[in-house]
Amino acid sequence: MILELKNVCKSFHQPRSGMIEVLNNVNFSLDMGETNAITGQSGSGKTTLLSLIAGLDIPDSGKILLQGEDLCSMKENRLSRYRATKIGIVFQRFHLMPHLSARENISLPLEILKHQHITDRVDDMLGKIDLQDRQHHLPGQLSGGECQRVAIARALIIKPALLLADEPTGNLDIKTGEKIARLLFDLVEKENKTLILVTHNLDLADQCQKIRKLDRGRLV
Ligand SMILES: Nc1ncnc2c1ncn2[C@@H]1O[C@H](COP(=O)(O)OP(=O)(O)O)[C@@H](O)[C@H]1O
Ligand SMILES: [Mg+2]
Repeated sequence: MILELKNVCKSFHQPRSGMIEVLNNVNFSLDMGETNAITGQSGSGKTTLLSLIAGLDIPDSGKILLQGEDLCSMKENRLSRYRATKIGIVFQRFHLMPHLSARENISLPLEILKHQHITDRVDDMLGKIDLQDRQHHLPGQLSGGECQRVAIARALIIKPALLLADEPTGNLDIKTGEKIARLLFDLVEKENKTLILVTHNLDLADQCQKIRKLDRGRLV
């Protein structure tokens, strides 16, 4: 088992509605190499769940264990290291660095971690996403689909234990979205990655081995 959530709860305080319980005793486990979809209506807590797994936010109670280690008990510098080395995230809105080229966006995580053989690894990754000829373009000079290919490459370049994707095709037209989904699943399979894909697109969810739904704070 690579990931385990035990009785995870998360509430937010909102000025109008007061406390809202977004996740209510969520239990969930994931085996190595498994692909999982999490669906649910807008506002059902999908992004919140991913943020907790990514170590970007902390649950009010419960445990989140990645490879047996509890995120909630990690100190901040250990948690930063966890985020940088174990987790790759692909967002709906790409979140690329606008002033860096496609190539530089992909190499950045490796630069931060002071890896070796960065040039070769980035070349290899550019080949996998078929973007060699546009590698020196800035995100603003790339199409949405190309930006998402860069974002997928940036997430995978660190060889994360877990790949998280939050509505990765949500900002793309249908045809481009299908292409990106194919690329994502292709890479996940080739690199034997464990994937959690958040989407309200059921066709996309169907391509995962397991589908779970967030409904009124519970995962079913
Ligand atoms: N930082 C926050 N502060 C207050 N409320 C939040 C915060 N993050 C999320 N929420 C609320 O939690 C609920 C779930 O949000 P979210 O996880 O983004 O849902 P989804 O990704 O499924 O659309 C929403 O009602 C949202 O307004
Ligand atoms: Mg969301």
